[in-house]
Amino acid sequence: MMCIRSEIIGLGHCLPEKILTNDDLSQMVETSDEWIRTRTGICSRHIATTETTSVIAGKAVENAIKNAGLTPSDVDVFILATITPDNTTPSTAAKIARNLGFRHGVPAFDISAACSGFVYALTLADNMIRLGQAKTAVVAGAECLSKIVDWTDRNTCVLFGDGAGAAVLRAVEGEGTNKDTGVLSTRIYADGEQYESLGTNGGVSSTQSSGFVVMNGKEVFKHAVVCLSEAAQTVMNDAGVVKEDVDWLIPHQANIRIIDSVAERLEIDKDKVIVALDHHGNTSAASIPLALSENYASGRIKKGQLLVLTAMGAGFTWGGVCVRL
Ligand code: ACO
Repeated sequence: MMCIRSEIIGLGHCLPEKILTNDDLSQMVETSDEWIRTRTGICSRHIATTETTSVIAGKAVENAIKNAGLTPSDVDVFILATITPDNTTPSTAAKIARNLGFRHGVPAFDISAACSGFVYALTLADNMIRLGQAKTAVVAGAECLSKIVDWTDRNTCVLFGDGAGAAVLRAVEGEGTNKDTGVLSTRIYADGEQYESLGTNGGVSSTQSSGFVVMNGKEVFKHAVVCLSEAAQTVMNDAGVVKEDVDWLIPHQANIRIIDSVAERLEIDKDKVIVALDHHGNTSAASIPLALSENYASGRIKKGQLLVLTAMGAGFTWGGVCVRL
């Protein structure tokens, strides 16, 4: 049966210039390159200096729109996933809409779903496109996590990085089969029971500050493996595809041991798993679009390939997307 699909027609990303290596970190807190690499898989991360979230997200969006062969005036809706906005309000999406020159009246808003933010944004945009509320949607994930990290806390400061990634979606006609190009299935979830396990220790209405990232690493690790693999399996089932059909699994980039366990549970070969955390660290909402855009630009991920995206983060929130590029 004919149906509307959201095709990804453009990708872009942006990383702040400054790179912070594990060795640099070992000068700041009691840690070592060896500990960080073996426990997390992270070797270096980009850190914003003068850049703000709107700057790196704006560049990623601009690149994605150019990559799609469009101009900002073609955009019908813009959704930015971030937990590190430039201002508490208005949204960082509104700032980017102004800076890039989206049309008057085009909806632009931020969503807060931590590391699952991009999967949430993609799900919302796909639904709007399929309902006929937008023809061209831009979704992005961008973070300056370095601004909410306590740089004296070795338990957290070694894990995170800054960056931005974006995708342009366009309505296309599909045949309603899993051979279609575009988003084939989406799922998003939350469970507030784990509110305390991962987040910041402050916020606007409680402490009048943003707070710093705090977490129960072991608890997060355990749930992440289950949530990431279950969401991936569910969207594969929904799309009617099996693991052999999948060209690339793009999991949220938090820890290589989490990623390896997820791949193992799904019985997806490690060569089909995109890993970018070695040079990005955990960039929360940016991690999936950043990994996707970078690997598409390098030619590793190609048009026509079947991708499974899966994310999990504070809330807890989690979700997955199955998409043919
Ligand atoms: N350098 C050296 N030692 C450290 C460091 C560090 N940077 N950080 C912690 N340690 C020490 C701890 O103090 C502890 O010492 P102790 O035994 O004397 O108390 C020891 O290393 C072992 O710590 P563990 O917590 O047992 O180490 P673990 O193997 O669990 O790894 C980690 C910790 C990497 C945080 C892991 O639990 C993890 O990745 N959890 C997932 C959390 C995560 O990724 N959060 C990101 C956001 S969530 C998300 O994106 C899904």
